[in-house]
Amino acid sequence: MLKSHSCGELRLDHVGQDVTLAGWVHRRRDHGGVTFIDLRDREGLVQIVINPESSKDARTVVETLRTEWVIQVMGKVNKRPADMKNPSIATGEVEIELAKIKVLNPSKTPPFSINDDSDVDETLRLRYRYLDLRRSRMQRNMKLRHQVTKFIRDFLDERGFWEIETPILFKTTPEGARDYLVPSRVHPGEFYALPQSPQQLKQLLMVAGTEKYFQIARCFRDEDQRGDRQPEFTQLDLEMSFVEREDVMALAEELFTSLVETVTPTRELLSKPWPRLTYQESLDRFGDDKPDIRFALELQDISDLVQGSGFRVFEGAIEAGGSVRGINAKGAGSYSRREIDGLTDFVKTHGAMGLATIAISDDDEIRSPIKKFIAEDLLKAIIDRLAAEPGDLLLFVADSNEVVYEALGKLRLHLRDKLQLVDANVLAFCWVFDFPYVTWDEEGKRWDPSHHLFTAPMEEDEVLLDSAPGEARGQQYDIVLNGYEIGGGSIRIHSRDLQEKAFKLLGLAPEVAQERFGHMLEAFEFGTPPHGGIASGIDRVCMILAGEPNIREVIAFPKNQAARDVMAGAPSAVDPKQLEELHIAIIEEKG
Ligand code: AMO
Ligand code: AMP
Repeated sequence: MLKSHSCGELRLDHVGQDVTLAGWVHRRRDHGGVTFIDLRDREGLVQIVINPESSKDARTVVETLRTEWVIQVMGKVNKRPADMKNPSIATGEVEIELAKIKVLNPSKTPPFSINDDSDVDETLRLRYRYLDLRRSRMQRNMKLRHQVTKFIRDFLDERGFWEIETPILFKTTPEGARDYLVPSRVHPGEFYALPQSPQQLKQLLMVAGTEKYFQIARCFRDEDQRGDRQPEFTQLDLEMSFVEREDVMALAEELFTSLVETVTPTRELLSKPWPRLTYQESLDRFGDDKPDIRFALELQDISDLVQGSGFRVFEGAIEAGGSVRGINAKGAGSYSRREIDGLTDFVKTHGAMGLATIAISDDDEIRSPIKKFIAEDLLKAIIDRLAAEPGDLLLFVADSNEVVYEALGKLRLHLRDKLQLVDANVLAFCWVFDFPYVTWDEEGKRWDPSHHLFTAPMEEDEVLLDSAPGEARGQQYDIVLNGYEIGGGSIRIHSRDLQEKAFKLLGLAPEVAQERFGHMLEAFEFGTPPHGGIASGIDRVCMILAGEPNIREVIAFPKNQAARDVMAGAPSAVDPKQLEELHIAIIEEKG
């Protein structure tokens, strides 16, 4: 090794030792005759001192150093004088008296500073990701991510799970996104699909008698990019045989609870065991099937109160099968007209036609544009229903339930940020379950799986598949953390008959089902054990544990929001010869 110690590990215990260190010049400071170098490696910083007594050769080299040069130094660990201690770094009680120095590699001036946490344009960071990853924030995140996957592997190993790799070049494994396709050279006109998840393969491993499987698996989904979505991302994928819903939920809950207690011990867990919400309860209370339960501002239904009120906006929504619901933005009663208009504009971007407001000032004066439309005792009843007090702002949306949930759910999160309602240190897990088995796609005029094609309906709801599929519930469960869906799974179908029935309900003609999923149907005829599992988004988990705003910050080499790698330049055009070999012709887009 070119070094005997890490820069960041040196402490008072090392005083008197001769050490060899190697790393990057974090900073060089000249103070008259004395020069200091902060030398950095992965483990941290240490101060190197060069004074007039240091050798002339060493001093000459030191003068040439610039930030990010890679150097090797030899010297003695000294205790710093009392007035020179630096409590802000872990090695702040010691320093290295330079004896010898060697430049291992110089560096061009980096395009942004590595030695501070200043904001840098993300495109520039991604363009020079290898430099961005040198910065302390990214080093922290990469280390955290390693600790997370290491913990998971150890935890599952102790419980008898085997980690098994499944192919990347495979056949469509739909999870609701478009597939990435890989053309085959040797089979003209044929394509592999990259797995959107290892779903089918892990189920086939259950048929294979593996019983307990997991994988830290890469998944590929061609879908719109968002802060919590990447075209390729990583799941903790797991599957178990001979289990029921409760078994998988218990395992996942124990896994994630002990994960955060071990890896991020200073974070506060809101509740243990995790709260459980049915899908309907989650929508009714939070307007969201991935609720952030760190704060209240819950939705209240006032449909029963306003029915027959004579106010057309409200009555019309209810008559059309919708509802009127509201939230009490506690403490926002003094919002100006403009601020309230801002909230109205906000809900309109989420599909609502308008926002009815009732503002109660600190001295109990009521401002409300709907006051003139409704009777005074009704206004009072609404205020009572929302337990409003002076200083509160009540916000209502009247529409179809779908729009009401969406608009108020998003408004709730908007107010969370605007009113700073959450403590960033808190981790609030919850389970959401009893999802509808299928949802109606109006555009495609068909039933879509609300989870995926292989999820089993609740046993007692199987009879509904023929008569009222929209009322059947699936044996599905989601893990939600701080308002993000960090995992989802289900008990699976394990018989050919039921799987065929499900395919049929989901609009797959028997030939299509056979062509795409014949291997699954066939496997189910050979003694498939009852099984179920779950997959969790490692990127999202790490993002939340690292306190980062998006998953790009916890992925070493992510794509940007346009699904590009701006460092290497991918995707990119390829040599016509390669295309020819792949039997592919590019059709120029018209217009
Ligand atoms: P699902 O599609 O719900 O389930 O995915 C599981 C978890 O993966 C994460 N996730 C993503 N993370 C980053 N970028 C994306 N594009 C992305 N898409 C999903 C989420 C999500 O909760 N096979 C099933 C699991 C099962 O049934 O066992 C599946 O993939 O955190
Ligand atoms: P209008 O009669 O359209 O002027 O609306 C009267 C009041 O009702 C205004 O304060 C609107 O913002 C509010 N409003 C209109 N549409 C809705 C809606 N869909 N939900 C809640 N409030 C609404």
